[in-house]
Amino acid sequence: MRRGSLVQLVLLTLAAFAVGAVVALAIPWMPDAASTEAGRIWFTYWFATWISLAIFAIVVGVLAYAMLKFRVKPGDMSDGPPVHGHTTLEIVWTAVPFVLVTAISIVSAIVLAQNGRAGSDPLVVKVKAQQFAWQFTYPNGHTYGVLRLPKDRHVKLRITSFDVIHSFWVPQFGQKQDAVPGQTYSLVITPTKIGTYPLICTELCGLGHSLMRSKAIVMSTADYDTWYKSAGPEVGATANPENTGVELFRKTGACGACHTFTPAETNARIGPNLDNLSAAAKTAGMPLEAYVRQSIEDPDAYVTPGFHAGVMSGSCCKQLSSEQIDTLVQYLVQNTK
Ligand code: CUA
Repeated sequence: MRRGSLVQLVLLTLAAFAVGAVVALAIPWMPDAASTEAGRIWFTYWFATWISLAIFAIVVGVLAYAMLKFRVKPGDMSDGPPVHGHTTLEIVWTAVPFVLVTAISIVSAIVLAQNGRAGSDPLVVKVKAQQFAWQFTYPNGHTYGVLRLPKDRHVKLRITSFDVIHSFWVPQFGQKQDAVPGQTYSLVITPTKIGTYPLICTELCGLGHSLMRSKAIVMSTADYDTWYKSAGPEVGATANPENTGVELFRKTGACGACHTFTPAETNARIGPNLDNLSAAAKTAGMPLEAYVRQSIEDPDAYVTPGFHAGVMSGSCCKQLSSEQIDTLVQYLVQNTK
């Protein structure tokens, strides 16, 4: 190969690499990493991306060179010379990808192992998914609808589901984990940035899938301790905010994930509007309280016209105790029209 040809080939390859690099760098493909684990995943992503870009550049460079150099000349109808193998070339194009793919798998395996490590004293939060809400239970036994985490501490989420398969995802934390009924899977998060991040269900789980969202709030250690103490064991069992009607409606029972109920300030539309249950009970031909109780305990016994059976019966009230259901029924009866 003449020196001039080699220079052309290298220039074309560099040009292809530059175009690829601009596309890779100019567009923010990933959100800013907000956990140690996400940082490692982004590293793996870029490691594989730069390798892919180099291969892309070489392929495009050779292709462009061949198209410019060997294009058909006017009047030339002959075939190109037959070429039968090139041992050195074949060894190179087998050995180089082998090394690169091995390197990617080693980096991935190390990151996977590191991301599974929670240290000796992680904060363990139980995560329960249900149609269509999230519940986070802390070591003090209290349950919330928002995930609060202290910065710079290993957190181990123990994720499960009440009903169908959901999937836990905070984009800035980089990892997804399915929530599967009957199984508990772990996910380790070590938050590195204070902030509020979207928490999303990323597995199609039913009518309300797109609304199955919450927040992950990363707080400083001091703020987190203050919050944890004020919301923690000092609050007596009778004053436990999780057992008031409105909290049961909004969080523990997650009714607000599907129903509009103005007194609880919820406005979802997956299930019937609950603002005027007296009229609904009349339509169903039942006394108000009995109607509300039946609708919670046996949702398919009577289905409001325009809605479907089976949506609510799958899961949502089964984890509530009978006292909690009593509270919820009273709350609805007293606050609806
Ligand atoms: Cu839960 Cu989608």
